[in-house]
Amino acid sequence: MERILNKKTAFITGGGQGIGRGIALKLAEAGANIVIAQRNQETAKSVIDEIQLMGREATAIYIDVTDKESVEKCIAKSLKAFPEIQIIINNAGSLQKNIGDFTSESDFDLCYNVNLKGIWNVAVQFSEHLAKHRQGKIINISSTGGRGPDPLFPAYCASKSAAINLTQSLAIKFASHNVNVNAICPGIIWTPMWEKIEQFLCDENRLTSNNNGAIFNSYTKQIPLGRPQTSEDIGNAAVFLASKYSCNITGQSIDIDGGELLASSTRP
Ligand SMILES: NC(=O)c1ccc[n+]([C@@H]2O[C@H](COP(=O)([O-])OP(=O)(O)OC[C@H]3O[C@@H](n4cnc5c(N)ncnc54)[C@H](O)[C@@H]3O)[C@@H](O)[C@H]2O)c1
Repeated sequence: MERILNKKTAFITGGGQGIGRGIALKLAEAGANIVIAQRNQETAKSVIDEIQLMGREATAIYIDVTDKESVEKCIAKSLKAFPEIQIIINNAGSLQKNIGDFTSESDFDLCYNVNLKGIWNVAVQFSEHLAKHRQGKIINISSTGGRGPDPLFPAYCASKSAAINLTQSLAIKFASHNVNVNAICPGIIWTPMWEKIEQFLCDENRLTSNNNGAIFNSYTKQIPLGRPQTSEDIGNAAVFLASKYSCNITGQSIDIDGGELLASSTRP
């Protein structure tokens, strides 16, 4: 990969596993140094090792994106280690615990606090730094689930929908600081998050889950391009949005779903 992010530093929430890990590795491949802002420091270890093997600098710093004080501390430590952070990826996300339920207040709060307020907290804490340096890229990981309703995930989808809207407001707000703010909406990717969905759907359908993704695989058959998305797909899009090649794109949210949303809108 062309090193289009040479001498840049990226800050990635939840970068130690799943999609966040894929993004971290792709950005590092493109030349960026990486701060993994992660609750679980153990999971960050192997991705840090991989990035350092590529010859980039990488560090892991504790964050709970729902907690303003934690976000403040994490960003202060990150800027001490890398004073020139220009790329901010809000990837941390949480599914609702009770899939299929719309009555649980704690699930509503969880999704709202992680998927929406988490983005807000990080953007607010970085705003002074970005304004001072007059350059930057914020990339929020939303979901195709944020494009419409889904009775299995009402709290999750509502929070992801709001994240798309917040991306647009932040794009206007940050434009005068020469900062682009965009979102990526992944379709389906086999990560620890999808393992939970698989387990739920197996239980619902009285199927034994061998954690082999049988239901996930059956979903992929409906995708026009015929394959699931990968963390690397999302990482590649993040590299583009973090690079100079997207300098005139802001406030956009890009679906990376193999055409599934389009196809589902035409199904009877
Ligand atoms: N897997 C999919 O199919 C899919 C599809 C669409 C969107 N997404 C989104 O992609 C992002 C990554 O998801 P994933 O599939 O890799 O899931 P995952 O569960 O593997 O990763 C989620 C990450 O978020 C972190 N996180 C959760 N709550 C946090 C908090 N309060 N503070 C800090 N970190 C926190 C977790 O520690 C973990 O690292 C999420 O925003 C998710 O909603 C995933």
